[in-house]
Amino acid sequence: MAILFSPEEFAKLKDLMIYFNCALRDITTRIDILLEDFRNFQHKDPVEHIKTRIKSPESIAGKLARLNYDITAKNARDKLYDIAGLRIICPYARDIYYIADVLRLQPDLNVTTEKDYISRPKPSGYRSYHMIIDVPVYFTRETYKIPVEVQLRTQAMDFWATLEHSVRYKYQEPGKIPKRISDELAACADRIAELDEKMFEIHDEVFKIKTV
Ligand code: GTP
Ligand code: MG
Repeated sequence: MAILFSPEEFAKLKDLMIYFNCALRDITTRIDILLEDFRNFQHKDPVEHIKTRIKSPESIAGKLARLNYDITAKNARDKLYDIAGLRIICPYARDIYYIADVLRLQPDLNVTTEKDYISRPKPSGYRSYHMIIDVPVYFTRETYKIPVEVQLRTQAMDFWATLEHSVRYKYQEPGKIPKRISDELAACADRIAELDEKMFEIHDEVFKIKTV
């Protein structure tokens, strides 16, 4: 049976979601502005594209239940950090670290968590750089610090994560994925990492030639 918010809590959640939406719009605009800077003044193109998503009330309720919290708007606000999500797809792994540095430097953004699954991939083979960033949302009477989960990955990492996610979804949970499939996925993740590195080396070599 689906886990749901009570009508009273759902009404509070609806208000809360306004802040999460605003935080996501704010950080998306910051990235767009950085892209203007990169393209016009730095001749860099470290971002392929960005994707945003807000967790649905059903998945918020489901995650709170999984974590053994009551299904309340307050718990959604206090216990979950991935209600607002931003995915930044970069050409190369090096661009990921560059973007992370640039975001860290914005004075009113507060990075509360960083997880480097690129230098330390998950056992599944998953690679990405994760940051939880508190984004200030300036309203008339108050400023709200809203967490946004930022996932930075290359196109190749995204390609892998999308397939692995759909496999996971199909088998409901990771433990149920046949070993042959999970082994093959893990092997693909390693090959993708090698390929990412090789592509960067080629790009780097050619780019150096062009600038001398
Ligand atoms: P969640 O409860 O899943 O949010 O995990 P967490 O709070 O411990 O954070 P973690 O950094 O492990 O993962 C956050 C998000 O990264 C997930 O919601 C997925 O979007 C993505 N992710 C993490 N691990 C994997 C993985 O093995 N495969 C795929 N496809 N995505 C993953
Ligand atoms: Mg999550």
